[in-house]
Amino acid sequence: MKKRLILCGFGNVGRTFGRMIEDRREMVRMKYGLDLEIAAVVDIGGAAVAKEGALPLDRLLRHVENGGPVESLEGFGFPGISGQEVLSTLNAEVLVETTPTNLKDGEPGRRHITAALNSGLDVVSANKGPLVLYFRQLMDLASEKGRRIMMSAATAAALPSLDVGLLCLAGARVLAIEGILNGTTNFILTRMRKEGCSYEAALREAQKMGIAETDPSLDVEGYDTRNKLVLIANRIFDKNFGTADVAVSGICGISGEDIERAGSLGKVLKLVGSAEFEENELKLRVEPRALDPDHPLSSIDFSEKGISYLTDTMGRVTVTGGKSSPVGAAAALLKDLIHLSILR
Ligand SMILES: NC(=O)c1ccc[n+]([C@@H]2O[C@H](COP(=O)([O-])OP(=O)(O)OC[C@H]3O[C@@H](n4cnc5c(N)ncnc54)[C@H](OP(=O)(O)O)[C@@H]3O)[C@@H](O)[C@H]2O)c1
Repeated sequence: MKKRLILCGFGNVGRTFGRMIEDRREMVRMKYGLDLEIAAVVDIGGAAVAKEGALPLDRLLRHVENGGPVESLEGFGFPGISGQEVLSTLNAEVLVETTPTNLKDGEPGRRHITAALNSGLDVVSANKGPLVLYFRQLMDLASEKGRRIMMSAATAAALPSLDVGLLCLAGARVLAIEGILNGTTNFILTRMRKEGCSYEAALREAQKMGIAETDPSLDVEGYDTRNKLVLIANRIFDKNFGTADVAVSGICGISGEDIERAGSLGKVLKLVGSAEFEENELKLRVEPRALDPDHPLSSIDFSEKGISYLTDTMGRVTVTGGKSSPVGAAAALLKDLIHLSILR
């Protein structure tokens, strides 16, 4: 089965995804009968578009690596054209969305996803912004158009957080979800516990290693975990939670003494995103939690992540791993594309 893709955003994740498609095209074709073809790549200044057939991806990657913008690729470049225009006019099957996450108005991802669904494309997104802000509207539009929105790369990427809950636990009732969904904060808390260093020293180290951003507030204040939790809870419980529905407290205020106090009680402090029922009402929280040593999330250290589902018929099921990286995000996009073709 042939799938023509329109890739919006050609930064770290977009380029890594492009390279992965080049490297694995034959493997994906042999193993899944799926013939992936990139029809267009859109970036901030325009697009490279193949009206028929596939873009010469290898040439495009080399062109961009040598400093050329996508829209100047000879024979394919369209300076100034927007993602929305490409999505509304080009014949394709899937939008792969990798533009920057914008939590103010969800743009440009929201425009891209809306145009894709209106043009009959499925969507595979690494971009959390439009999904967190406009979850219900976008899911309703997808279902009205008979399309799917896949969001593994936006919900802890290489950690199959959603697949486990949606596919592997199908038929079970999910009673609670707990997750370590952010690698940066887990790295900081692990360094503080294992090396006895301060929050500030652990954060500096994470920044030096490229694990934490120069402005780490999204991670350390718990908002990145919150955003992923909103998407996971909405998909698993078919709800319409927004960011304001989550009680959030991050790790900025955590001291060495807090870590030691938890340790003296035999517990481990972790930043946990949770969705749990209280008096029949589902409550979402992000907070540092002192976990018992036999809790399945307590031994997940450094920038590893994990998610644990409590169910009525399958007991507790936990999956761990999935370090954050552009490779992990690109791999999650590819996995979603493969699942799209299997789920149809
Ligand atoms: N990096 C990771 O490990 C990771 C993991 C999971 C999810 N994600 C998500 O994946 C997405 C991409 O991340 P990234 O690290 O690849 O970011 P990035 O390197 O900043 O790439 C984003 C690209 O989109 C381009 N862009 C901006 N506005 C655009 C528009 N209107 N139309 C088309 N392209 C536009 C940017 O161009 P300019 O640079 O010129 O603005 C840039 O080339 C983000 O939403 C991020 O949250 C990232």
